[in-house]
Amino acid sequence: MQTISARALASLLGAWRDRSPAYAALADRVRLLVLDGRLAVGTRLAAERDLAVALGVSRATVSAAYASLRETGHVTSVRGSGSVVRPLDRPASANERRPHPDGDVLDITNAALPAVDGLQAAVERAVTRLPQHTGGHGYEMQGVPELRAAVAARYSDRGLPTRPDEVLVTIGAQHAIALLARTFLTPGDRVLVETPTYPRAVQAFTGAGGRPVQVPVGREGWDDDALRDAFARARPRLAYLVPDFHNPTGATMPAHQRRTVNDLAARHGTRVVVDETMADLGFGDRAAPWVPFPGDVVHVGSLAKSVWGGLRIGWIRADAATVREVLNRRSPTDLGTPVLDQLVGAEVLPSLDELTTRRRGSLRAAHDALHAALAERLPSWEAPRVEGGFSTWVNLGEPVSSSLVLAARARGLLLSAGPRFGVDGAFERHLRVCFTLPPRQMHRVVDVLAAAWDDVARLPRLQPGPIALV
Ligand SMILES: Cc1ncc(COP(=O)(O)O)c(C=O)c1O
Repeated sequence: MQTISARALASLLGAWRDRSPAYAALADRVRLLVLDGRLAVGTRLAAERDLAVALGVSRATVSAAYASLRETGHVTSVRGSGSVVRPLDRPASANERRPHPDGDVLDITNAALPAVDGLQAAVERAVTRLPQHTGGHGYEMQGVPELRAAVAARYSDRGLPTRPDEVLVTIGAQHAIALLARTFLTPGDRVLVETPTYPRAVQAFTGAGGRPVQVPVGREGWDDDALRDAFARARPRLAYLVPDFHNPTGATMPAHQRRTVNDLAARHGTRVVVDETMADLGFGDRAAPWVPFPGDVVHVGSLAKSVWGGLRIGWIRADAATVREVLNRRSPTDLGTPVLDQLVGAEVLPSLDELTTRRRGSLRAAHDALHAALAERLPSWEAPRVEGGFSTWVNLGEPVSSSLVLAARARGLLLSAGPRFGVDGAFERHLRVCFTLPPRQMHRVVDVLAAAWDDVARLPRLQPGPIALV
């Protein structure tokens, strides 16, 4: 069983004391960590006494917080093992998933949309092709030839000549990232990651023993000096970048910086992994058609964002030797991507641009609706307009993201707080807002955010001074 130490938990909790009583603020903050996956199910929480010391509060405060977590079903007490995060088999507390008064819960937790129109037809065509495969054993560890050819053709058409043996089909991009982590990292290796970034990639790297080294991505995108400094200081084994419509900021890396990354990686012996999962989702007037990242990098792609998350098709595009190396590490965790899904992928890829036209239009409409509503209702927030992807990274101006997310949740809006996208609890001033609902609902999202913002403003603040007891 994995235990989170008092120090690590204190660092994840960040500035948790946003109100009194302290035990309730602490319990709420742990709840948020559980809900957004930063505290994994099965994790044993630090002992009460140790956490009390690390947080500078009384043991009674921590005891009361743990008792409250037990009451709401977020942790369970196991004899001899302390308090353990448990799977949520029901909405954990009455106020956690209270529906929005106008209807269902509004959920913008995931950067994802329902399937594109045209998927059903592609599935039907794929089914008719299935008999070409069912006579064989079906264990297609590298991917069926027709899908690898379709992926290779897409890169070649976009200016990166690619052969089918330079493609490895995976079970989504997440699987690709995890395979790359397992293949190329040994415990203690440094991995350059952006901050904020897609958190499950960081989990894959740390799970393989990697140590994240962070380079900031902000409103203005990446900073040349920070990139130079991080490469030179850490000489990372891997660098993981999301250069197109970055999750969560929506930023896109300009061409000159891509060349800088290549130069730095060559100088410091770093293998660069570029995650181009969002690349097909440009919708702004200035969004240029996607071109693959230049140079000798490992490309990760997926149909999850452009077509449907339920179609678990991703891939790695790299030189053939790298592909073989990763392929050799694939077993025993899995024995290939389902053949029928791959055939669907081969059907959709050649017409991906047409299939995503509507999706890009919807994203643009939702993005514009969100910005119009934010400008009207929450003008103090800084919400950058973006050219593609699913989200914008709002600067709230105050370190209250977690409190705001809890208040929004109580009003029926589910979303992730800023610290979810940082390492070590940073980004309390930021909030990822996904524009993944239709425009009318995005207006409702902003209504709830505005009401939650008022709730947060009304929270009784703790006065600086003596440590608060329960
Ligand atoms: C940047 C990024 N990469 C990869 C993934 C996971 O993609 P897939 O569903 O293909 O595993 C996500 C999902 O949110 C993502 O945001």
